[in-house]
Amino acid sequence: SFVNVCEETGVTLSRYMMEMARENPELSEVESIFSSVQTACKTISNLVRRSSIRGITGLEDSGSINIQGEEQKKLDVITNNVLKRALQYTGKLATIASEEEDTPVLLDNRGNAVYSNDVLLESEGRYVAVFDPLDGSSNVDAGIPTGTIFGIFESPEECEIDLEDDMDIAARQCLSNTLQPGTQLVAAGYCLYSSATTLVFTMGNGVNGFTLDEQIGEFVLTHPNIRIPNRGKIYSFNESNRNDWDEPLVQYINALQAGKGESGKRYSSRYIGSMVADVHRTLLYGGIFGYPADKKNMDGKLRLLYEAAPMAFLVEQAGGLALTGKTRIMDLKPKKVHQRVPCILGSRDDVAEMRKYYETMS
Ligand code: AHG
Ligand code: MN
Ligand code: MN
Ligand code: MN
Repeated sequence: SFVNVCEETGVTLSRYMMEMARENPELSEVESIFSSVQTACKTISNLVRRSSIRGITGLEDSGSINIQGEEQKKLDVITNNVLKRALQYTGKLATIASEEEDTPVLLDNRGNAVYSNDVLLESEGRYVAVFDPLDGSSNVDAGIPTGTIFGIFESPEECEIDLEDDMDIAARQCLSNTLQPGTQLVAAGYCLYSSATTLVFTMGNGVNGFTLDEQIGEFVLTHPNIRIPNRGKIYSFNESNRNDWDEPLVQYINALQAGKGESGKRYSSRYIGSMVADVHRTLLYGGIFGYPADKKNMDGKLRLLYEAAPMAFLVEQAGGLALTGKTRIMDLKPKKVHQRVPCILGSRDDVAEMRKYYETMS
């Protein structure tokens, strides 16, 4: 288990990770991945804050549609490249998967992307990184909070690109390294771009939050050992979909609105429409957030690999629950990179109360 390191507020993320790697040698490579992630998040924070000044708002000029069927914003593409470059040149990654990449990108051990006609023999990268470079990007042109979500897995075996194999076999093998359940996550986190830029992450030993001090350009520890309140009084759903929700969820939300839930109090509704912002508020204030299944989208909207699973890891590590409705999100092994999953997470007692409706009504 981890040897924890100093957690006095003000310690920089760089020092925290150096000490963590010194006390936990198996994390030394994760430390260099984190170093590249924090640099990328500082860059993305700057790009988002200055996007109107630099004229990089709005949709991608080519009108490109990503594999999700979403119109890509300029910042979706720019932030994806920032994070991809930062990660691949650590030389620690065999594969990276992104919301903005159709298929996972295979990397050689110098971090160069491998394509079918490359002569690369093998990639010793030990890790797989999955990420959503700009979460809530539909909000970004209005200055509403957005974020970056990332997860780090170990690559279960060498991602050998054998010349005999044609690329799609190798890609399939590396793809299999990517499609891992949340329980296999080594680390996960998000960076929130809001009134402050806050990087919140876990390595399986609790959750810590670091805020970017722009006067020194360093993330400093501001939220040591985040614990989500066991119960909150906020629910956070896009209620325009409520007529298509499962009946158990409708009954649960009706009870909260009428003050007839277990707490006896009426809940208020807060919904920002950026998962990172809604989850960050839920982690700190408590309550329940969800993008549930509905009749039109049986798997909801959020993607399992690089949105729901990393967030589920964080919420569970902070003492909360993360379910599809009845089943634990972290147990789900993705079948496809961009697979969607119903996602309801937050305070332990709130999510457990919601699950009772599913258990008694379905
Ligand atoms: P992304 O911007 O990375 O595609 O993710 C958007 C997601 C998530 O951030 C948010 O919770 C959800 O979309 C909001 O969807 P609705 O606007 O349909 O409520
Ligand atoms: Mn998107
Ligand atoms: Mn997203
Ligand atoms: Mn996104």
